[in-house]
Amino acid sequence: MVDSEQVLGCKAPMGLVLVLLLSSLLGPLGQAQAQDCEKPMRYTMSLTGEHIQKEHFPNGLVVTFECATGYRSTGGSGKTTCAAGTWTTSTLSCEKFNCGSLELVNGHVEYSEGTSFGSVATFSCKDGYILSGREKLTCGNTEWLGRTPTCSVVKCDSPPSVDKAEGPSPKRDLYDFASVVRYKCQKDYTINGSASLKCSSNGKFTPNPPTCLMVRCNAPFIPNGSQKSGALPSYVHRSLVEYECNPGFKMEGKGVLICQLNSTWSSTSECKAIIITTTPTTTTTTPTTMTPKTPATTQKDGSVVILYYIVYY
Ligand SMILES: *[C@@H]1O[C@H](CO)[C@@H](O)[C@H](O)[C@H]1NC(C)=O
Ligand SMILES: *[C@@H]1O[C@H](CO)[C@@H](O)[C@H](O)[C@H]1NC(C)=O
Ligand SMILES: *[C@@H]1O[C@H](CO)[C@@H](O)[C@H](O)[C@H]1NC(C)=O
Repeated sequence: MVDSEQVLGCKAPMGLVLVLLLSSLLGPLGQAQAQDCEKPMRYTMSLTGEHIQKEHFPNGLVVTFECATGYRSTGGSGKTTCAAGTWTTSTLSCEKFNCGSLELVNGHVEYSEGTSFGSVATFSCKDGYILSGREKLTCGNTEWLGRTPTCSVVKCDSPPSVDKAEGPSPKRDLYDFASVVRYKCQKDYTINGSASLKCSSNGKFTPNPPTCLMVRCNAPFIPNGSQKSGALPSYVHRSLVEYECNPGFKMEGKGVLICQLNSTWSSTSECKAIIITTTPTTTTTTPTTMTPKTPATTQKDGSVVILYYIVYY
């Protein structure tokens, strides 16, 4: 950024008008003061030597600017002369110092105002990495003020071994983020849970290690039914048997039983007695009471109506 602004203190036309006005009012006395300059000010520059403290800048005085802290000269001279109340133009131009960009392996850098003087760099690591060092650095006059942090990979301690299982494999003391370990249950044992675990960004393996179970279901039994097909003893995990009901009974449920992880059979199938409905005639479907009554009634007109009773068992 090159700043080529004019001497601020001496360019305001209102000030100049006021000075001229005053000098005309005060006569010879005012005339002498009107030739002085106000303190010269520039945003990217500062006065050198003894002029920094000065308050009085008489006509003919030569002062020198240099680039302010955090700025670098890109050429020109900082000399300026007070000439009848106005500072002459100087050629010095100053540029904000640039610290250059920073690199963070396995992370990300964000800058508040680019990479120049005064900007703040903020560091963050990608998932599975931890920042060691300072989270923020400021670009100073000559360099970034402080050491760039680093991103180190998250480590997980080894998950425990599991009874009746091989693993975790591979076997290590520490695992890097995203490493996967596996367990395998011994013969005749069934895994309950996940066979593989992953080192997550919180430094722990997930999910929890599995367990290995000896699954054995007892002989299945459905009252008033018998096994039609399926597994024979011993009944292990996922053994499946299919039942049918004895004559006079019908299946409620699927009639399929599966040996579960907790060594119990799934399903609540039942054989229910079939309800036999006797209908001597189909002339009526109106249900009536179960109590047999007089089979015939003599009506007023003398005709005989035969009543049929439907008996529900
Ligand atoms: C149906 O099962 C029950 C219980 O097992 C038993 O007491 C009953 O005798 C069986 N009924 C028939 C008709 O087999
Ligand atoms: C299987 O593992 C889960 C989770 O740890 C547990 O809640 C459940 O009781 C286990 N099942 C058996 C049959 O042990
Ligand atoms: C066994 O597991 C099944 C399915 O998870 C469950 O419905 C049942 O209540 C369990 N039985 C026992 C005795 O724990």
